[in-house]
Formats: sequence, structure tokens, C-alpha cells
Amino acid sequence: MTRPAHTPRYTPADTRYDTMEYRRCGQSGLKLPLISLGLWHNFGGDTPHDLKRDLCRTAFDLGITHFDLANNYGPPPGSAEEAFGEILKTDFAGYRDELIISSKAGYKQMDGPYGEWGSRKYLIASCDQSLKRMGLEYVDIFYSHRFDPETPLEETMGALDHIVRSGRALYAGISSYNSERTRAAVEILNDLGTPCLIHQPSYNILNRWVERDGLLDTLEDVGVGSIAFTPLAQGMLTNKYLGGVPGDSRAAQGKSLNPDLLSDEAIRRLNAMNDIAGARGQTLAQMALAWVLRGGRVTTALIGASKVKQIEDCVGALGNLEFSDAELQAIDDLAFHDDTLNLWARSSEEV
Ligand SMILES: NC(=O)c1ccc[n+]([C@@H]2O[C@H](COP(=O)([O-])OP(=O)(O)OC[C@H]3O[C@@H](n4cnc5c(N)ncnc54)[C@H](OP(=O)(O)O)[C@@H]3O)[C@@H](O)[C@H]2O)c1
Repeated sequence: MTRPAHTPRYTPADTRYDTMEYRRCGQSGLKLPLISLGLWHNFGGDTPHDLKRDLCRTAFDLGITHFDLANNYGPPPGSAEEAFGEILKTDFAGYRDELIISSKAGYKQMDGPYGEWGSRKYLIASCDQSLKRMGLEYVDIFYSHRFDPETPLEETMGALDHIVRSGRALYAGISSYNSERTRAAVEILNDLGTPCLIHQPSYNILNRWVERDGLLDTLEDVGVGSIAFTPLAQGMLTNKYLGGVPGDSRAAQGKSLNPDLLSDEAIRRLNAMNDIAGARGQTLAQMALAWVLRGGRVTTALIGASKVKQIEDCVGALGNLEFSDAELQAIDDLAFHDDTLNLWARSSEEV
């Protein structure tokens, strides 16, 4: 990297496309970086703006062209999009065409009956609000953030089609839809003439619902790409918790990672996985990302970060994406499962 840290004026590193790899997203024309950065945590009002800016700069300098947002990211909801809008203005102003920016609507963003789920009313208004907060004319990808059991799928997909046709987004996506609903959604979108670009499911060594559901097979079959969120199990699959729960961690901060998941037995298993990673010449985070990306079925792994060095470490995963059968078996033997790991299960379950 050629840029000193904390320069007031940002010029992206001229090496930014040297090492990152890009994979085609399904059968579309769009390629995404193997690592994408999500702004769910650490981009709200509780995080200093300088840190948010440094995280985005570091990501882009390393070839991470894809930034993932949603209407509810904060806290408070909307503040991550506001912060990113500011960074777009101050840092990325001349680089919009090098960026893939996504947003979503589905979870609660506003009070009242039009503030969540999948109605046309909510999705279109929410997309407009997201564009305003980020100061953008369009997002690259707009998602239905979760399946809505009470709204006809035709209405939700019709809203995505309208959002694309009206120029608010270039592509449509869905998140946490199971195989059956994915097939139905893709068919509706195809009929409308706005193909589904991408599916965003949770997926990591400890949370394998997409394998049980057959979602990756389905996506291959229908030609839709995938972006796996929480590939590090919110930080559990990193060196963060190998010695217990540190104070500067998500699990210690009363956020979305339940510290009860980090039992002595879980930590023992994570340490054993870390040994496998070490033997591969990787950190545990790098191995966890390589595991999600193995075999080329997942287009990109969507990480979060609270520190610049975490992003640098994660990008190092690209150094070794191959696994031997023995390594995969050893990881399977150590993987543990807890229903509360998949906080998004309700959207993909049968109702
Ligand atoms: N579609 C959906 O419904 C949905 C739901 C959830 C998330 N997402 C998307 O997925 C993105 C990623 O989610 P996530 O943040 O939970 O993903 P994650 O990558 O599984 O976890 C990120 C956390 O892991 C730790 N970490 C990351 N890299 C590390 C490294 N190299 N070494 C040590 N620790 C490291 C940090 O924890 P600390 O903060 O503790 O340092 C970081 O905040 C979100 O920002 C969002 O865009 C989508």
C-alpha cells in the first residue's frame, strides 16, 4: 500500500487492483471482489467517524470495491448510510464508478405499518430514503432483506423490479430466502425482466443452513450469485476469542453476538481450528473466509470489521483458498452448532 495512514485528503492506493480477485456474480456481467465490506456494526453513531473513514479507505485500497449497507444499520437506524454518504463525498467522490454499493429494506427502520417487511409501499419509500442519506442517485444492488410471509411475493418482487426500472438500483437481490422461495422469487423477477443478481445468506463453518437447505445448488441452477454474510460467525472464527471474551469485542458489548456461545468447549474447539489454520499458514479468520469461498460456489464473503488491521488480515485469505479432504474433515469434526448462531433463521424457515 502506498498511502500513509490518516492523510486528511484521500487518494486511493494505486496498487488497489493488484492482488484482489474478482468473481462473476452468477450469470450476470458483474464481478465482485472475493471479500466485501459490510457496515452493519461499527458504522453507527457509537463509532468515531475517523475510524469509519479509515475502514472504508483501507478496504478500497485493498481492492474491496463492494460496500454493503441496509436502511436499518446504525445505531440509530440509517446512521450507517449517513456516515457512508459522508465518506462518499469526502473520500470516494471521484470513484463512484469503481464502487458497488448495496442497500436493503425488510427489517424495521421506521415506526408504523410501512416501516418494515416487504410491501411495495415500504420498499420503494425506504430505497428513496437510503439514496437521500447516502447522497446517491442510485445504488448498485437493492435487496429484499427478508422474506415477508404476509405480503404476496409478486408484490415484493414487483417493487424490486420497479426500483431497478426507475433507475434507483442497477440490480435486484434477496436475502435469507430459502431455496423454495428463492426459486419462486427468481421466476417472478425473470418474468418481469429484472433478473435476480444475488442472494445474501448467512453462511460460515458454524452455520450451515444453506447446505442443509440446498440453497447453493439452487443458486447454481438458477444462475444467481451469492454473498455470504457473517463468514466469521460475527468474530467467533477469528483469533479474537481464543483466550476468552475480550472487552473490545462484539460479544462483550451487548450487541448481536451472544457471549454464552463462547463456552469453554467452544473456545477449545476454536483453538483447535486455529491450529489447523496455522498449519495452512493462515490465521483463523483467513481460513474461515477461504472455507466459505472454497470451490468457487460463493461469489464473495461479506465481512465486518472494527479495526483496520482486521480488514488487512481478512484480505490475506486469498493466499490459500484450497483445502485437502483431511483439512475439511478435521474442520467438520471441530465445528459446533447452536441454533442461536443463525439469528436470521426465521426468514428462511417454513412458516
Ligand atoms: N442480510 C442480512 O440479513 C445480514 C445480517 C447480518 C450481517 N449482514 C451483512 O454482513 C456483514 C458482516 O457481518 P458481520 O460483521 O457479523 O461479519 P463477520 O465478518 O462474521 O464478523 C465481523 C467481526 O469479526 C471480527 N473480525 C473481523 N475480522 C477479523 C480479523 N481478521 N481478526 C479478528 N477479528 C476479526 C470483528 O469483531 P469485533 O467487532 O468484535 O472486533 C468484526 O466486527 C454486515 O456488515 C452486513 O453488511 C447481513
